Amino acid sequence: MKHISAVAGLLALAACSGPQGVTNPAAAPKYDTSLPMNEFMLHVVHPASQAYWRGSGIEVTMAGERDLSPKDEAGWEALVTAASTVAEAGNALQLPGRARAPEADWNRMAQDMTARALEARTAADAHDKQAVFDTGGRLYETCVACHMKYIIEPPMPEKPLPEVPEARN
Ligand code: HEC
Repeated sequence: MKHISAVAGLLALAACSGPQGVTNPAAAPKYDTSLPMNEFMLHVVHPASQAYWRGSGIEVTMAGERDLSPKDEAGWEALVTAASTVAEAGNALQLPGRARAPEADWNRMAQDMTARALEARTAADAHDKQAVFDTGGRLYETCVACHMKYIIEPPMPEKPLPEVPEARN
């Protein structure tokens, strides 16, 4: 009896490290993050978030007010798609090699973007115009937060301008 269970144990172990097992290096995830960050922003995050924001709010023109909310099921679906893409982009921002230092802040901001994009997705799924507008605004805050920290330099302290040096003859 003891002998049989030992064999069964070995078989179970062998099954775990089989071709589909986690111990097979060929099955390990492999990420290609060669797309530069500005391209990632310009061609993944930006168009997806724009597609979401385009479907909310009211446009005021000379001709009057125009409700930008979707008019049909396809329009709402487009917003759900856009928000889903932004949510997954937040995950992709955290792939090994993507995060910039300090990485803890980067990852937290990417997670905030995903969390708010998923709220935006729920709003679109519910065809809730007001919630689409509100969650779209909150999503935008997560873009600004990360850009402030990682791109835009903090403002220079106010200092008196240096004197113009005397021209030397
Ligand atoms: C976790 C950080 C982070 C978040 C969140 C983030 N961005 Fe960015 N974004 C960056 C960085 C870093 C750059 C600068 C890329 C570079 O180094 O060239 C950038 C650049 C951009 C650019 C300029 C790209 C170019 O080449 O001109 C756009 C547009 C942009 N982001 C849109 C967005 C939008 C829209 C959101 C929110 C939905 C967002 N980003 C959220 C980090 C972030």
